[in-house]
Formats: sequence, C-alpha cells, structure tokens
Amino acid sequence: MSSIPNIIIAVDGFSSTGKSTFAKLVAKEFGFLYLDSGAMYRGVTLAGLEAGVIANGVIDEEGLKGIIGPLDLHFRRDDGTTKLYWGERCIEAEIRGWEVSQYVSPVSAFPWVRNFVDNLLHAFARDGWVIMDGRDIGTTVFPQAELKIFMTADATVRAQRRYDELVAKGEQTTLEAVLENLQDRDYRDSHRPTSPLRQAPDAYVLDNTHMTLHEEVVWMLGLLQGKFGLLESPGLSW
Ligand code: DC
Repeated sequence: MSSIPNIIIAVDGFSSTGKSTFAKLVAKEFGFLYLDSGAMYRGVTLAGLEAGVIANGVIDEEGLKGIIGPLDLHFRRDDGTTKLYWGERCIEAEIRGWEVSQYVSPVSAFPWVRNFVDNLLHAFARDGWVIMDGRDIGTTVFPQAELKIFMTADATVRAQRRYDELVAKGEQTTLEAVLENLQDRDYRDSHRPTSPLRQAPDAYVLDNTHMTLHEEVVWMLGLLQGKFGLLESPGLSW
C-alpha cells in the first residue's frame, strides 16, 4: 500500500456503533492518521458549557457564535493515538461526559458550527492516509473519499455497550436513559436540514450487532485488500 498516496477512509454511522474504536484500531494496524470529527463537535459544546452560553437546556446561539471564532481546537498525536486539545488543554476525557452528550447533537445542527468544524477537518486531513469517523464524512466532508464505511448495530446492543462504558467511568445513569439519548441523537442527526446522517450510496455497510472487534478488523482487511491491492496481511498485532 505504501505506493498509494493520500487515502481517505470515511467511517460514518449511528451513535455508539463503535466507530471510533474501530477507526482507531484500523489506524494503528494499517498506519493511518485517525481523526474523530465528533470530538470537534463535542469540543465546541464543552466550550459553550464552560462559557455559560449553553445552560439549563438552552443554547444561546449568538453567545456560542461569539466564542467559536477564536476557539483553538486541534488534534495532537499522543500515545499512538490522536487526542483533542483546546489550546494547551487535552479535553479528550471531558468531551465524553454526560452533559456534553446531552447538548452536542443540537450544537452540531447549526450550519455555522458545521462549517467551522469542516474547515478544521479539511486542514488536518491534507496529507497522507487518514481515517476519519463521523456522520457526514462520506457524504459532505469528503464525498471523494477512497473508501466509505457505514456502521450500524441494533439500538439496544449499542445502548448496553455505551451504558457499560459510562458505568465503568463512574457515571451515574440508567440503561433506559442511555437508550433514550442514543435514539434521540440518531433521530436528530438523521433529520437535521444540514448534512444529515445518511449512508452514502457507495458506502460498505458494517453491521456489528453480532461481531467482535477482531472480526470487524478482519472484515476491513478484506476490503483494503480488494480495494487497494494489499496482498500481504500486516499481521494483526493484538
Ligand atoms: O461520534 P460522536 O457521538 O462523538 O458525535 C457527537 C455528535 O456530533 C453526534 O451526536 C452528531 C455530531 N456529529 C456530526 O453531526 N457530524 C459528524 N461528522 C460527527 C459528529
């Protein structure tokens, strides 16, 4: 594969389908730079919450517009993966919390927020091999991506996985609340007027309801072999 320049792989799909876990592992195994577009929307939401322009169930649109211009969000390679920074502060952990998850979907529906994030994503993905996950990567951000994956899984299975993660991190919630948040985000993400979540017509569907992560990567290896002529297995390192 080393003779193939600039490959972009778009991984889109519903909430909590394991897109980032899958994309991170593919990045590590096959030498791609991993970029998490959802992290950017989460970063904007965190900044809004900390500035007090998102509070008590209300998003002050003008207030959010006021802070987004100078907002320095960027990715840094760190410990073999990519992490989101706000200036010098690593915000990977904070952006995964419950409060950010409550507001991120409506925040990401503002066209000017999408524009802000898309510009940053284009700048970060300028060179080399990039795998990026999100909702609209294969349809809007990089419609010319060399390979598009659309991930899905049964909603109750996704909710259970997400609930287990949150509980392991010490968050207090219920399975019902997690399922409701996930279904609400799926609905909002698929029905917003700007760049709704859609399966690109040329995307390969990965339904991982009954798959292990290892099976997903083996499936991906088959695709990479077929698409880019990778003949040798790199020998999965885990
Ligand atoms: O992938 P995630 O759950 O971290 O994404 C958080 C939210 O960001 C999700 O509810 C929808 C939004 N998002 C988006 O609208 N477009 C993207 N490309 C990525 C995420």
